[in-house]
Amino acid sequence: MTTNSDIPDALLAALRDARHVCVLTGAGVSAESGVPTFREAQDGLWAKYRAEELATPEAFLADPVLIWRWYRWRREIVADAEPNAGHRAIAALAERVPKLTLITQNVDNLHQRAGSRDVIEFHGNIFEDRCFADGSLQAGDDSTAVPTCTECGSNLRPGVVWFGEAIPEQALHDSCTAAADCDVFLSVGTSSLVYPAAGLADLARQNDATVVEINPNPTQHAASFDFCLAGNSGVILPELVNSLSL
Ligand code: OAD
Repeated sequence: MTTNSDIPDALLAALRDARHVCVLTGAGVSAESGVPTFREAQDGLWAKYRAEELATPEAFLADPVLIWRWYRWRREIVADAEPNAGHRAIAALAERVPKLTLITQNVDNLHQRAGSRDVIEFHGNIFEDRCFADGSLQAGDDSTAVPTCTECGSNLRPGVVWFGEAIPEQALHDSCTAAADCDVFLSVGTSSLVYPAAGLADLARQNDATVVEINPNPTQHAASFDFCLAGNSGVILPELVNSLSL
C-alpha cells in the first residue's frame, strides 16, 4: 500500500494501460457540495439521526409522515447543491479511458448533473417515488404529507434502498460484472462499511485489478488497497485526471 496525496507514477501507468476503469463512490464525493455524509462524527446524518428510525421499511410503516418530512428535507439539501470538481473529474475521466463504469452509493443525482452517463445507482435515487406495495416507479405528489399510488392507493416511498432491503437486481449484477472485469478500481469517498458495496473492491482485487482508495481518512480496509490517496476527492480526482494527460 502506498499512501500519499501526490499521484504515484505507477498508478498513472496503470490508468493509462487500463481497458476498463471502475469507480465506486460514496457520500464523501458529495461532501464538498455541502451534502452531509452519514458517519462523520459531528455532522454525519447517522450522528444526528438514528438510521433504524428513518431508513428502514419498518420505520416507514410506523411513521410515514416523519419519513417523508425527513426525505423532503434531504431532497432540498441535494437540490440546492451543485456537483463539485470531484464529480466533474469522474465525468472527464470517462472521456479519457476506453471504458469507465461508475457505481454510486449516493442517491443525490450529482454525478448525473456533472455529466456522468449510465451511472449505476446502487442505493437508488432520492428523487424517485415508488409504490410501497410493489416498488413500481410512480409520479409523486409533493402536496400531501404522504403521497399515494395512483394504481393501488398504497403509500409511496422514496426510491432509495433502506437497511434490510436488497440492492436493485440489475444494479448489483452490473456492478459485480464491472468490478470483476476492470483493470483499475477506484473507491472514492466511502467508509467501506456497508455491504455489498464494500465488497466490490475485494472482487476487483481477486480479479487482479489495481485497487485504489481516495479518502481523507483511510478506512479500515486501507491496508488491502494498492494505493491510498489521502485527501479530498474534489482535489485528488482533478489532479489525477490532469496528471493523466502529462
Ligand atoms: P459514510 O458517511 O459512511 O462515509 C463517508 C466517507 O467519505 C468517510 O470515510 C469520509 O472519511 C469520506 N470523506 C469525507 N469527506 C470527503 C471528501 N471531501 N473526499 C473524499 N472522501 C471524503 O458514507 P458511505 O460510505 O457512502 O446507505 O455510506 C455507505 C452507505 O451507508 C450509504 O449509501 C447509506 C449509508 O447508510 C443506505 O442508506 C442504504
